[in-house]
Amino acid sequence: MILPAPQLWPDGAGIDARGHLTVGGCDTVELARAYGTPLYLLDEATFRASCRSYRDALARHYPGASSAHYASKALLNSAVARLVAEEALGLDVVSGGELYVALRAGFPAERIHLHGNAKPRAELEQALAAGIGKIVVDTLDELDLLARLTVGRAAPQAILLRLSPDIAADTHAHMQTGSAISKFGLPLAALDAAAARLALAPGLRLAGLHTHLGSQILDYAPIAQAVSVLLDCAARLRDEHQLPVAEISPGGGLGTPYTADQASPDVEAYVAAIAQAMCVGCTARGFPPLRLVVEPGRSIVARAGVALYEIVATKPLPGDRGWGMGDGLPQPHPPSPIPYPPSRYLHVDGGMADNIRPALYGARYTALLANRAAAPAAELVHIAGRYCESGDVLIRDIGLPRAALGEILAVATAGAYTLSMASNYNLTSRPALLLVGAGRARVIQRRETYADLAARDLALSEE
Ligand code: LLP
Repeated sequence: MILPAPQLWPDGAGIDARGHLTVGGCDTVELARAYGTPLYLLDEATFRASCRSYRDALARHYPGASSAHYASKALLNSAVARLVAEEALGLDVVSGGELYVALRAGFPAERIHLHGNAKPRAELEQALAAGIGKIVVDTLDELDLLARLTVGRAAPQAILLRLSPDIAADTHAHMQTGSAISKFGLPLAALDAAAARLALAPGLRLAGLHTHLGSQILDYAPIAQAVSVLLDCAARLRDEHQLPVAEISPGGGLGTPYTADQASPDVEAYVAAIAQAMCVGCTARGFPPLRLVVEPGRSIVARAGVALYEIVATKPLPGDRGWGMGDGLPQPHPPSPIPYPPSRYLHVDGGMADNIRPALYGARYTALLANRAAAPAAELVHIAGRYCESGDVLIRDIGLPRAALGEILAVATAGAYTLSMASNYNLTSRPALLLVGAGRARVIQRRETYADLAARDLALSEE
């Protein structure tokens, strides 16, 4: 049986003879029963293939040195760090915690970059002590602090300067990071000041320039433009400050389709566009092909992830209660013959604490009933989360077969920025995460217990 919208599900996902959704050769309904819900699955083959697609595209399209760094804020644990290491990608971390987990998993420190607009001094010290590959400097204050922290170092610490190129990417306002009013990156006007400080900082070595325009970007043109701005800055540093620049990183941000009506961005075309901008731009400014680094997160892990929930209750809806909310655009009414408006809420046993994206960004998702994956849609519903918050609605206006209590809802493209943004709101336990592949499921993050929830809770003593 054919899975609807297969481009939204992990590679090889399918429907077995019983009508169950399978991922990584595993029956998702059995996994839900065995491990409980909410449950997250990470398909190993899809994750690895996505890593390789970046590596291969860079090798094919760019004549200079290059690497892809997985942006670990999208999802990180020891198993993920290990897959990234085995696929020969670098790793971007954005906190001492991410750095700690990566190092603990044995990820080579020299392949790690540390990001962040407000890195605490202790985390910079942690990174320096670990021998991390590069620190991506966001502010002049950070540059000053790093210069002080690296006085007397035997080998200078390599850094990238993150610039704010004043280019607005076409994405949700919360996911834009390249405009002049963004909190991220040095303003272009601060380049000379940064160069002057670097001249007085023997413990630091400028390796290159970085920018990141935002996330869930579907149009690559602004990224090529950003490459050109970075190369202009590199030429200025060379010509006016005698500072060589060896590396250029236009960040990450390639989008992923979450619903069947969204176009599928293509890693190959994206990398080709950046490589082309680099080749043309380097030649025009008299550079050899500088080292190129891209930092994908979502486009590597989103589609590898599937979230499973149990439908635990329902609530009928009176009259026309279509919301038309979400990302601000009118929501597409599903094709007839499913009657509009939505007839009821299906309440599931997870929601905004394991996936805050619908509540925070109006993000849209696609789902099906894992135990009747091939059944046609018969009613329009809203999928409500369990949390005490009206905005906790995971999916609005989705067509599903008439669902009964106890059925399992599978949400597609659930790998990125879900568990990594999860909370314990309402003191619920964060879900387990299983790595699935070749018919085998392995717990790579266990479900939290009540004891975990109470671990930091210190009762008042009697004195
Ligand atoms: N590089 C830098 C410097 C970044 O800040 C980010 C993401 C990435 C790379 C990876 O971007 P990606 O390829 O994953 O789009 N929580 C939001 C997304 C926030 C992205 C933050 N920075 C969401 O759920 O959509």
